[in-house]
Amino acid sequence: MSFRFPTETITEGTTRIVVPRLGAFVKQSSDYAPSKAPVFYNPAMALNRDLAVVALQTYQRTVGRELVCCEPLAGCGVRGVRLANEVEGVRKVVMNDISPEAAKLAEHNARLSDLAEKTEVANQDANLLLSRYAAPRKRFDYIDIDPFGSPVPYLDSALRAVRDGGLVALTATDMAPLCGVHPKACVRKYGGKPLRTEYCHELAVRLLLNCLAMQAAKYDIGVQPVFSYSDYNYVRVYATVNYGAKQADRSLENTGYVLHCFSCFHRELAKGVTASFRADCPECGSRLQVAGPLWLGGLWNVEFCMRMRDAVRHGSLRGKVKIFQMISLIVGEAEAPFTYYVIDKICDKFGLPVPPLSKVSAELRKSGYQAVRTHFSSKGVRTDAPASAVREAIRRQLKPVSEKRE
Ligand SMILES: C[S@@+](CC[C@H](N)C(=O)[O-])C[C@H]1O[C@@H](n2cnc3c(N)ncnc32)[C@H](O)[C@@H]1O
Ligand SMILES: [Zn+2]
Repeated sequence: MSFRFPTETITEGTTRIVVPRLGAFVKQSSDYAPSKAPVFYNPAMALNRDLAVVALQTYQRTVGRELVCCEPLAGCGVRGVRLANEVEGVRKVVMNDISPEAAKLAEHNARLSDLAEKTEVANQDANLLLSRYAAPRKRFDYIDIDPFGSPVPYLDSALRAVRDGGLVALTATDMAPLCGVHPKACVRKYGGKPLRTEYCHELAVRLLLNCLAMQAAKYDIGVQPVFSYSDYNYVRVYATVNYGAKQADRSLENTGYVLHCFSCFHRELAKGVTASFRADCPECGSRLQVAGPLWLGGLWNVEFCMRMRDAVRHGSLRGKVKIFQMISLIVGEAEAPFTYYVIDKICDKFGLPVPPLSKVSAELRKSGYQAVRTHFSSKGVRTDAPASAVREAIRRQLKPVSEKRE
């Protein structure tokens, strides 16, 4: 098949894919090649797709049935074709894109892997497509929303098109709103106020999850995150959905707010949609800033994450080492306290040299606190210690050895 633009054949995972030859669309160094090409393909998101393969395989093994999947914003089809090709137990993948050229390329890619029987390609608006599958027995086991920017415009129709017990995966690349650079845009899209804190990526995941839970609740659907992460310039969540008013009520119990002090790094939670909060920081007296409503519940199902890690260990993904390390960090933090402190930020603010993270963590543990690393930041420590105790742990690392022994 011929296309009116230059293409090349690449291999991602174990799947051969024809993609636009990105180099041909870069006219100047500031050009972002994926968005210049007539059909979307971003090689930098390979890890996102690798993890989708691993997460879907883990989910399939957990539920033990054949899966019907949907990728309503498929671009060149690399994700949908990989899911059909690389995940055992997938019966069908419906791919869709509003661009006729993208749909044509996705169809070509499905044929290239001999997957014409296992795939369907549509060319329409994603919400229209999902609405066609909203009736009982037509719904999908897995829906993967991987859009430009925010997934919010597709949440409603995705929730109506996913079956009871199914899995939804959402990518959000609109980090400026979610991380508090454009707070009004975040309130408009996600119904929650962000904060430009050092742990804004965790807050971004929580804003997205709360938005999903709120959208689901109106249909008496509860949501349960099984795997969430941030990487590169996006956040991603995987959540199972369960029908029932009680399930919806239970997931709304995870709604609440984070209060943050920009003077001393103190943070605390206020649970409930209508939580009341104190105005001033209990540690230093400065005004507290509020983020939310957002999801205060767990971001991970630790068993699901461990199964994902096993699948990576025994698999042959090209980016295996990085993915294994990332999931290992996630397993370590899956049941650890809310939010993390970034040691460099604290040292910067108080004019201190930066001690090794491992030493600060060990010091905190010696004082009886939990302290683990987080995949969200290589400089972060996830701990239940108050900000004053974290500062103290840093200071102790900076004292001369003789003083420490006293
Ligand atoms: C970020 S790209 C998808 C990348 C793809 N999921 C992957 O893993 O490579 C977003 C795609 O959504 C398509 N799109 C944008 N608006 C749409 C809509 N309303 N309905 C369907 N597709 C749409 C664009 O044409 C584009 O191909
Ligand atoms: Zn304070």
